[in-house]
Formats: sequence, C-alpha cells, structure tokens
Amino acid sequence: MTKVSVSGLGKAGLPLCAVLAEAGHTVYGVDVSPQVVEKINKGQCPVSGEPGLPEALEKHGGKNIQATTNAKKAAQETDVHIIIVPLFLDENHKPDYKNIDEASEKIGQGLKKGDLVVLETTVPVGTTKGRLKNKLEALSGLKAGQEFHLAYSPERIMTGYSLDRFKRFPKIVGGLDDKSTEKAHKFYSSFCENVSKATDTETAEYTKIIEGVYRDVNIALANELFKTAETLGIDFWEAREAANHKYCEIHEAGLGVGGHCIPVYPHFLIDAVKDAKQKAVLTKTARDINESMAQYFSEKIIGGKQGTPGKCRVAVIGLTYREGVDETHNTPSKKLIQLLKKEGCKVYGVDPLIPSQRIEDEFGVEAYEGEDFNEFDFAVLVNKEEKYLEALNAAENVSVIYCKNQLKK
Ligand SMILES: NC(=O)c1ccc[n+]([C@@H]2O[C@H](COP(=O)([O-])OP(=O)(O)OC[C@H]3O[C@@H](n4cnc5c(N)ncnc54)[C@H](O)[C@@H]3O)[C@@H](O)[C@H]2O)c1
Repeated sequence: MTKVSVSGLGKAGLPLCAVLAEAGHTVYGVDVSPQVVEKINKGQCPVSGEPGLPEALEKHGGKNIQATTNAKKAAQETDVHIIIVPLFLDENHKPDYKNIDEASEKIGQGLKKGDLVVLETTVPVGTTKGRLKNKLEALSGLKAGQEFHLAYSPERIMTGYSLDRFKRFPKIVGGLDDKSTEKAHKFYSSFCENVSKATDTETAEYTKIIEGVYRDVNIALANELFKTAETLGIDFWEAREAANHKYCEIHEAGLGVGGHCIPVYPHFLIDAVKDAKQKAVLTKTARDINESMAQYFSEKIIGGKQGTPGKCRVAVIGLTYREGVDETHNTPSKKLIQLLKKEGCKVYGVDPLIPSQRIEDEFGVEAYEGEDFNEFDFAVLVNKEEKYLEALNAAENVSVIYCKNQLKK
C-alpha cells in the first residue's frame, strides 16, 4: 500500500482521502486551515451534505488519514502527492494560481526520486506541463519525467454524490510522458474501478474543461428557451418535458450558474483562444446568457412594482448555488440581491442551510426565519426548497417568482 499526501481537504479533497484510506492507503491530508485539520484528526467531518463521508472520517480520521498543516513534512513522508486545492478567478476572469503555487512549492521542497505528483484541480490547458512542472523542478532540483513522475487527473465528483461518483465515473489520467501515465494509471487503479489513459496532460486537462463548458452551454440554451417561451406565452416546463427524450436533453432553466466549477471553467477556454482565429464564441455567449439571468428576474420584480421599488419587500429563498449544498461561491442569488437592493427594494434572505448571521455577513441583508410570506410583495424561489412551498402557497398577497419548476400552486 502507498503513502499518499492530499493537499486541499475540502469538498473534493476529503472524499478522495476517504476512498484512498478505505482502499488501504496511508493518507496524509494537508490543509492550510488548522480548524479543518483538527476536526479531521478527531474523526469529525468539516464538510456537510456528503453521504458516507462522516462515517468514513469517523473510521479513518486521525488514523489512516492523518491531517496536518505541515505540507513539506507530509511530502517528505509520502510517495504520491495529489493537489486538489481551489483555483479562483479574479475580477477580470483570469485564474489566480496562488493556492496551486503554494501547494506545489511545499511538495517540491519534500519531493524525492521516484515520487509521483498528480494535479486534480481543474486548470487551464498546459498548467501541469508548464507552471506546475517548473515549480516542482525548481524547488526539488529533480527533473520531471526522469527523476519524478507527473500527471494530471481531473476530479469529476459532484458535491452530494462524491463517494458514489468515485465508484461509477471513469478516472482519467494523462502523464507528462508514458512512464508517468503508467505510474498514475497503476496508482489510481488501486482504488478506482475504471481508470482510462489520456494521451497527455493537456488532453486530460481539456477533457475536464469541456465537461464544464457542455453544462454551461446547455444551461444557457435552457435559459434562452425559457425566456423565449415566456415571450410566446408558452409554459417552458411543460414543453421541455414533452420535448426531452434520449436525443434531446434540455437542461433546467434558472437564476444562473454558481459554485467553483461551471461558471469558472468556460473562462479557461475563452481566454486560451481569445487571440486565435477560432474563438470560443458559443461558450462566451452562453456565459453571458447565464450571467444575465439575475438581471432578467430582477426586472420582473422592479417592473412588477411599477416605479415604487423603495416600498417593495422581497424574500429571496435559496442562497446557496444549489439546493442541499452549503456553498455560496459565485451563487447567482447574491447578484439578484445586489440588483434589487440597488433599485431600493428591501430584501430578505432565506436559506435552510445558512445561519442568520452568515446571511447578513455574506449577503448584506437580513435573514427571514418566519413562515408568513404575506409580509412580502415578492418571494423569489431560487432553488428547489420544498420546505417553503406550503407557506408560499398559503400566502395570498405575495407574488411568487419560481426560477425553476418548483411545484407551483
Ligand atoms: N466541489 C466539487 O464539486 C468539485 C468537483 C470537481 C472538481 N473540483 C475541483 O476541486 C477543487 C477544490 O474544490 P473544493 O470544492 O474541494 O474546495 P473547498 O473550498 O471545499 O476546499 C478547498 C480546501 O483547500 C484548502 N487549501 C487552500 N489552499 C491550500 C493550500 N495551499 N494547501 C493546502 N490546502 C489548501 C482550503 O483551506 C480548503 O479546505 C476545485 O477548484 C475544482 O477544481 C471540485
């Protein structure tokens, strides 16, 4: 069995630690957060909404999974090093490599001959072969492909289904050279049922980006069809259900796209080819459509109150980017709230997963914990929060805006 370090113990890294430990590997989990490390070593789970993960951490935390903030030591003590830290975009949609750079510098300091380094974070094409390889070589003094192995393997989990996805989804590995690919393939085959080889690191990187682009473009198509159906006086949801079959899978329309992943990855492609002859025109348009949905829904409210937004009280229900997932990164609800506040509306936030204080801190609005939506002029049901349907149906004075197909009254 192998000694493995996993850098980044979040929603993606922790399920990976769990499946590695379950397969009998010894895992050194590395995180910059002492609180996260402490919890894991006590057998507690710092991530919510992930079936099977609390049980796995109770079993392996502090034993087969040793969490630490000492990344260099973890690298020295292990032979395989996996990086799964987040990569964010800055305000100009450019990737901020800070987390990956920090993690790879520490691994470089502890790297030994024969080790394998695998990047799992979704990155622009060429990151593994360029930026990561250069950092590791500079800090270790070792040559990639000759003295250590380097590969890219996209993380393909989905929050809420992570452990299951490890079993079902093919794990793709692409190495810097054939030996790196072989080594990564052998290692992942020790805990994944279905491992497939990509020709190189770039193909593996591109594979993950285009999965995100596919989702974003299809959601944008659904959003466009939703809006055009409304213009034509047609119920989009009824038509969608009738239209969908094996060869026509129209996605769900909604307020937009959030999280670390889908709104981010298309920018890697758009940016990579911006100066080339073949630009990512459809990908860019899809991004713009999805980003415009908050404006579209805000206009329903502002227009609906006919020039008296200052008196308009709005409850925005569903602040996380998806129901059941405690994640607010890039959540479209935040944009909707900002637009409504700018127009003078008095906005309240409602979400079963987010405590009141966090709603105030993160969204700059008061939390509403009551059940009587008659207090509002509008309620916007963003996510599929069934918990609120009864109260919304009972409220006669409020206009309810359903962003998805949430069992209307
Ligand atoms: N969450 C998903 O559904 C999902 C799905 C597919 C791929 N991914 C990939 O996984 C990446 C990470 O996502 P996540 O959801 O786990 O993020 P997360 O925010 O839940 O967790 C990231 C963790 O990394 C830690 N961290 C940051 N910098 C670090 C460093 N230098 N060294 C060690 N730890 C560091 C943070 O403290 C945090 O605990 C994403 O950027 C994406 O590329 C995520």
